[in-house]
Amino acid sequence: MRHVYLVTLFVVVLAVSILGFRGTKFTSAPMDVFPEWAFPGMKHQPKPYSQGTSAFFADGRADRVPVAGTVQRGMLRENDHLNHGKNADGSFARGFPSDVTVDFKLLERGQDRYTIYCAPCHGNVGDGNGITKKYGMGATPSYHDDRLRKMPEGELFNTITLGKNTMFPYADKLVPADRWAVIAYVRALQRAQTGSTADVPGAHKSELGLK
Ligand code: HEC
Repeated sequence: MRHVYLVTLFVVVLAVSILGFRGTKFTSAPMDVFPEWAFPGMKHQPKPYSQGTSAFFADGRADRVPVAGTVQRGMLRENDHLNHGKNADGSFARGFPSDVTVDFKLLERGQDRYTIYCAPCHGNVGDGNGITKKYGMGATPSYHDDRLRKMPEGELFNTITLGKNTMFPYADKLVPADRWAVIAYVRALQRAQTGSTADVPGAHKSELGLK
């Protein structure tokens, strides 16, 4: 029985010592575990903070404008179609960039990435009925309407790269080559829903009773 009192006392003391100081403003500086004299230059580094001041530059600003002639990482406009889905004039490009070969291998890669990153919302056949719909995310559009069928490939690329409204960007998960693979697969999904008997290869026509 004595132990119960001791344990209760211990718990109370522990709770008060941890929770009791919440919100308290201390007047002295916090204890320095790694003091400057023992670790010079490690903790207190002379670094500029964003939108802070700097005594180093004549204008006193820590933020600097980019050096003339330099390009921000990922913003090289060398191959606009491949990396941005755009033409040189900034409009969305149609078709696939010349560096991308649309073949079965690309479609397989596209299917693989699509199933991981897009199908949860857009559904396995691109009808917008992914698993997230069951949990209340209702605004995912189907790919099977004329607007998205006719949308330039470059605009699809742009949506994957930057996201759109409630859809997150996927630039950090899909490198440009994978984005093109996904786009090829989205095109295949769209095509699959608009097929007609004319698309059946000659050799298989008789199996379906077609002439
Ligand atoms: C978390 C759910 C979610 C995932 C995952 C997702 N999307 Fe979306 N997507 C949306 C929603 C919601 C919209 C509608 C955005 C809007 O216009 O309000 C949308 C819109 C789109 C559109 C139409 C854009 C337009 O201009 O109308 C395309 C194309 C698209 N997504 C492609 C993709 C591709 C490709 C992937 C995979 C890389 C993907 N989405 C992954 C939720 C998602």
